[in-house]
Amino acid sequence: MTVKAKAAVMMVAVTMMMIFMTTTNASEGRSLRHRQKRIMCSGGKTVPVRICVQTADGNWLHDRGTDSGVHVSLSGASCRTSSQELESPADDFEQGDYDCFSYNTQNVGTVLGITVQLLPYHDRWLLDSMVLRYNNVRTCLRFTQRVWFTDHISRKITDPKNVNCSDYRL
Ligand SMILES: *[C@@H]1O[C@H](CO)[C@@H](O)[C@H](O)[C@H]1NC(C)=O
Repeated sequence: MTVKAKAAVMMVAVTMMMIFMTTTNASEGRSLRHRQKRIMCSGGKTVPVRICVQTADGNWLHDRGTDSGVHVSLSGASCRTSSQELESPADDFEQGDYDCFSYNTQNVGTVLGITVQLLPYHDRWLLDSMVLRYNNVRTCLRFTQRVWFTDHISRKITDPKNVNCSDYRL
C-alpha cells in the first residue's frame, strides 16, 4: 500500500470509530432518560387526588381553550403515577374555565411535579395554573407556570407553592 492509501484507510477507520462512539453515547443517554421516565410507583394503597385546572382567558380570536384530551401524571422524588385523563361529562378546558376532577392514584409521597400531555392532540391549549389537593392534606399545591401546549408532547410542570386549600374552589 502507498502512504496515501494507508492514510486513507486510517481516516476511514477513525471516522467510523467516531461515528460508533457518538451513536453509542447518544443511545445510552436516550435509554437513561427513558428509564427515569418509566419508573412507575408501585404498591397497593392508592390515595385520593383532587385537581383543579385553570385554562387561560381568551376570546374568539385568540382561543386558549382546547378540545384535546388532557392527561396528567404526578411525580414524587422516586417515581411517577400512571397517566390519568381529566374527564367529565362537561365541555372542559374552554378558555377561562376552572375545571376540577377527583380520582385515586398511586402514592408518590411529596408531589414535586405534574406531567401534562394533550392526547389525542386536536388543538392547542394555554394552561394557566393548577391546584392540587393530594391525599386529603390541608395544604394544597399550586402550580403557576403558564404553558402553551401546541402538540402532543408531554411537559413537566414543577415548583409548586404551598397554599391554603380553603382559598381555592376545590
Ligand atoms: C385557611 O383558610 C381558612 C379560611 O380562610 C382559615 O380558617 C384557616 O385558618 C387557614 N389555614 C391556615 C393554615 O392558614
